[in-house]
Amino acid sequence: MDDFQNNQQKVYIFDTTLRDAEQTPGAALGIEEKLEIAKHLAKLNVDIIEAGFPISSPGDFEAVKRVANEVEGPEICALSRVVEKDITAAWKAIEDAPRARIHTFVGTSPIHMGRITRTTPEDTLRMATDAVAYAKSLCEGHPDANVEFSPMDAGRTELAFLYEVVEATIAAGATVVNIPETVGWTVPTEFGNLIKGIIENVPNVNDAIISVHCHNDLGLAVANSLIAVEQGARQVECTINGLGERAGNTALEEVVMAIRTRRDYFKGYYTDINAKEIAPISRRVSRTMGIAVQPNKAIVGANAFAHSSGIHQDGIIKSRVTFEIIDPKEIGWKESQLILSPRSGRNALRHRLSELGYEVDADQLDKVYERFLRVADKKKAVQDADLEAIMSDEIRSI
Ligand code: KIV
Ligand code: ZN
Repeated sequence: MDDFQNNQQKVYIFDTTLRDAEQTPGAALGIEEKLEIAKHLAKLNVDIIEAGFPISSPGDFEAVKRVANEVEGPEICALSRVVEKDITAAWKAIEDAPRARIHTFVGTSPIHMGRITRTTPEDTLRMATDAVAYAKSLCEGHPDANVEFSPMDAGRTELAFLYEVVEATIAAGATVVNIPETVGWTVPTEFGNLIKGIIENVPNVNDAIISVHCHNDLGLAVANSLIAVEQGARQVECTINGLGERAGNTALEEVVMAIRTRRDYFKGYYTDINAKEIAPISRRVSRTMGIAVQPNKAIVGANAFAHSSGIHQDGIIKSRVTFEIIDPKEIGWKESQLILSPRSGRNALRHRLSELGYEVDADQLDKVYERFLRVADKKKAVQDADLEAIMSDEIRSI
């Protein structure tokens, strides 16, 4: 039974950690490092890996080529401007991949056309369709190669022109049209309406997959991506840990876990991501790129499954679902953590003592709790070693 009959809608996950996230200041990767991350992205089961921008440097060309030749599973994509030599380099880097994709882009907003390419809308449109047609011609003869086109800065592009560009590039052979929210300008309802408008106003829209690529300048990249899915986008471009230019890109782990955790809301939508690999790849990318994950980051931050206040800890001990909507083991993480602090109550202390092998009655717990609070007031978190010291004093005083 296919997805349509089954009323299921697959959302394709296009990972651009090796291209857009690699543009994060200080995050540049060597060839072996890129290859290593690409192999882990394949284990995560992303649908497409955007491996790099081959024309940008010989090193990047080589890295994309190695990924295309050595990484099995996902489609391998290379980025190019709408320039013949870029597209040729992109193709040469990926042509040996069993599944290959050329991704070509040009700015279509008045700001980008006026200040970057310095082209009229007519010229920009011609450059876009010529580039797609050229890329398509290179793919001829390959068993499974696609062309993706992006009208960069779509969020600030004049709507009628955006529809025209999407229609013309699909007609020229693009099988995926990606709508980049390049500067994170739009807010969710607005971006959702933009995607809805494309679906409703572009006559040949069903000949291509509509994709979205959101940046996080206003902290809205994930929200914009999710509303776009609700409005008909079927590919989300994203990065591990949300890394990327400036405030970053849509975080892969957040989009995937939102669709998965709220399956009651996102009825029928699914991704093929192997969720158990989320925590391991987050750590690996953070280490390799040298960029720490903020502790309160959703899904993969160190505190994402840590509980500190007494009421929350008591709830978690009684039932995990009281204060956790995801089982950390689902994303390949260890158990939830109860952080012992002055905000912790007796129940959390008793629970941890029991895990350390100390069973205490109510009177003992009162005494130990008093000593625990004295230690806790001096520290941010009470460690197991502190509890061991408290307990050995307590045992000696009996
Ligand atoms: O943000 C952007 O517009 C891009 C394009 C190259 C898709 O990264
Ligand atoms: Zn981008």
